This record gives sequence, structure tokens and C-alpha cells, in this order.
Amino acid sequence: MDKIVIEGGRPLEGTVKISGAKNAVLPVLAATLLTRGRNVIEGVPKVRDVATMIQLLEDLGAEIESNRGEKIVLDTSCANNPEAPYDLVSTMRASCLVLGPLLAKLGRARVSLPGGCAIGARPIDLHIKGLEAMGAKVWLEQGYVHGAVDGLKGTQFYFDTVSVTGTANLMMAASLAEGETILENAAKEPEVVFLANILSQAGAKIEGQGTDTITIQGVSSLKPIDCQIFPDRIEAGTYMIAAAITQGEVLIENCIPQHVEPIILKLQEAQVDVEVDGSSIRVRGGRPLTAVNAKTHPYPGFPTDIQAQFMALMTLSRGQSIIMETVFENRFMHVAELKRMGADITLDGHTAIINGVQNLSGAPLMATDLRASASLVLAALAAKGQSVISRVYHIDRGYVSMEKKLSNLGARIKRVQ
Ligand code: UD1
Repeated sequence: MDKIVIEGGRPLEGTVKISGAKNAVLPVLAATLLTRGRNVIEGVPKVRDVATMIQLLEDLGAEIESNRGEKIVLDTSCANNPEAPYDLVSTMRASCLVLGPLLAKLGRARVSLPGGCAIGARPIDLHIKGLEAMGAKVWLEQGYVHGAVDGLKGTQFYFDTVSVTGTANLMMAASLAEGETILENAAKEPEVVFLANILSQAGAKIEGQGTDTITIQGVSSLKPIDCQIFPDRIEAGTYMIAAAITQGEVLIENCIPQHVEPIILKLQEAQVDVEVDGSSIRVRGGRPLTAVNAKTHPYPGFPTDIQAQFMALMTLSRGQSIIMETVFENRFMHVAELKRMGADITLDGHTAIINGVQNLSGAPLMATDLRASASLVLAALAAKGQSVISRVYHIDRGYVSMEKKLSNLGARIKRVQ
């Protein structure tokens, strides 16, 4: 298994280009199941989760016409297999995004239940409740969610908890349902808005994306998708923090600054210089970091997917910072590893209390989930001495060529077997 070796303590300098958003392309790939014909998706980040979704679509019967560079061309007209197997769903929870499209397209689905993951139980009860409200019969058998329906019907559904993939799943299903569906307390993430816009271009009738209430008028068919994926806001935020934590200066190109506004504001509050110029963001560290508090929320709040990376930064701030995780119940897996590097962090339920220290020191580290792994890379870049991070397949799930992008910025980082 690969490991990443980092010699810390070198400021990052230069320019980095952000890749397409992983969490935008996954639902769009699932949405191709609703269409007939040749779908063209460009700006695709070549990360492990995308490869898993493509493999899943192939398993379902899709024809992948080409998958080169950042462009995928696929036709799902022949995707008639309703089963998403355990071995794929267990490696990527977002595989459950095919549940709604399969029910809408085939009237049946058999999707392995994702089960727990490192950051919490993460149930899909709301996805299931929503599909039941649309008339589907859904039952659990041998670890699989089975669904059957003779034509989905529009409904009014309230999400007890804001769910990103839940909103995406129901929006896709409702696009081909009969009548009107109203989703209340819907997710407002840019990835959800993008999916709504792409479905609309394909002929769906969707209104209210980006607000709490999304209304979908079902149509009988959708044209193929032709789209360009927008830049990944979490990758952008990760490189912004990389510049700050190493006291370097990095120009981050190909971003949508509005998507990372809470991260920009928190960095500025911590005395990091951040300048926005069109689609580029220049981040300059160097001044002593001030400890600031942060609390995660669904969009447009401070993203849970950047909590671990921001905590790494706060371990080197002056004073005490309090970070609250309100989206997931167990998303502090990085804390124990950061403490092994000399960080002073106390956990109290959903709250982490961080007392800034002068230095972190390199250590052998274990990646536990995607964003926790990114936080360890950031901490290692700033630490004195060498860190060896194992289980880096977590990083490969969501970051395009992370060690290459970092070494282009001057980091001493290499991948070893
Ligand atoms: C998506 C993102 C993930 C991000 C998360 C929150 C993708 C592929 N993944 O994950 O990177 O961290 O949003 O921004 O886009 N919940 C339920 N029942 C459900 C569904 C969710 O209780 O049926 C709970 C979850 O356990 C969690 C909260 O709702 O506590 C939010 O989860 P959700 O927004 O669904 O996260 P994902 O869509 O899985």
C-alpha cells in the first residue's frame, strides 16, 4: 500500500490549478441513467471515487464510449441492470445516488446499504422515505435496499436533516415522476444547484434550486447531458490552508470565490492575507495566526469537509480556538493523529478545543478518511521533520494528484510503496 512521505517546514510558493468538483460530477454521472443517448461530461477530476462511479454505471449496463483526460462520453440507454453491488457501494457511499435514477428509469432497484463509515453512521433513511412518499415500495433484504414502483408520483417531502445526496437523489427521481414534487428543507450546496441546472438543460422542469424549497414538475424523458464540471471548492479550500499553514504564498487558479467565502472569511479572521481576483485567489501566510472559532453548517455555512484542514491550521495559532462539528456525529478522527504531532486538542462531544502550539513535529501518521487525510498532509507540511502518512488511498478518493500539485509548489513530498 502506498505511503506519502513529507519533509515539513518549507513555505509553499507558486500557482496551483483546481480540478473539477468530485461532489458535482458524482451526481451528474448518476443522472445520466435518466437520459437516453450520448452524454458528454468535461472537466472531470480523475479521482478514485469517479472511477468507482464509472465502474458502477458500467456494471449497471452503461456503455462508456470514451474516458480520456478530463472528458467522459457515455450512453446509459442499455443500463437495465438494477443492482448496485456491495463491493462498489462499500468503497463509496455516494453510490447510493443511483437509487433514485434506477427507480425512475427501471421501476426497480437493488442497491447495497452503504453501512457505517469513518465519520459516522450516515444513514440513508431520508432518501428511502422520500422515494416511499413518491409511491415506491422499499424494503431491506440481506443488506440491500430493494425498491419497486410502477411509475413514481410527485409528492411533497420535508427533509428532517439537510442532506446533500438525499436532495440530489429525490430531485433526480422526481424529474421523471408523474406530477409535481416539492422538496422542503432541501440542500443548497453548489453541487445540488449545478445538478438541478444540468437536469433542466436536459429537459427537466426544476425551480427553487439554491433555496430551501425545490419544485420539480416531472417530464416523460430527458435529453443527454452535455456539461463542464465546475471547480472543486473543497480542493480550493485545502490549498488555501496549505499556503497559510506553511506561511507561504500561493495563487490558486480556477476557483469560484463565492463557493469558498466562509473559508476566505475565516482565514482573514485568523490574520491570513487573502485576495480574490476573478477566478483566482492569492493566499499569503506569514503573520502570526490568530486563533478563531468555527462551526460547521450546511452550505452556505462553514463546510464540514474543510473542518479537519482548518483544525490543522488552528493547532499553530496563537490562543484558543473552538471548532464545533454539527453536520456529522463523529468527524474528529484526525484529532488523535494531530495530537501525535504535538497538537494540543481536547475533545468534548461535538466540540474540539485547540490551544495553539509553536511547532508540530513530524510523525508516522494514519489517514482515516478523505478530509482527515488532507488535514494530516497539511499538518505534515508545516511540521518540523519527516512524516510518513499511510493508507493514502483515502486521499486518492478525492484529490487529483495531490502530491504532484504540492511538490510543484515546493513541498518536499513523495509517494512510496
Ligand atoms: C455530502 C458530501 C460530503 C459532505 C456532506 C455534507 C457528496 C458525495 N458527499 O455527503 O462530502 O461531507 O455532503 O456536506 O456529495 N443524514 C441522515 N439521513 C439521511 C441522509 C443524511 O440522517 O438519509 C444525515 C447524515 O448522517 C449527516 C447529515 O444528514 O449527519 C448530512 O449528510 P448528507 O448531507 O446526506 O451527506 P452526504 O450527502 O452523504
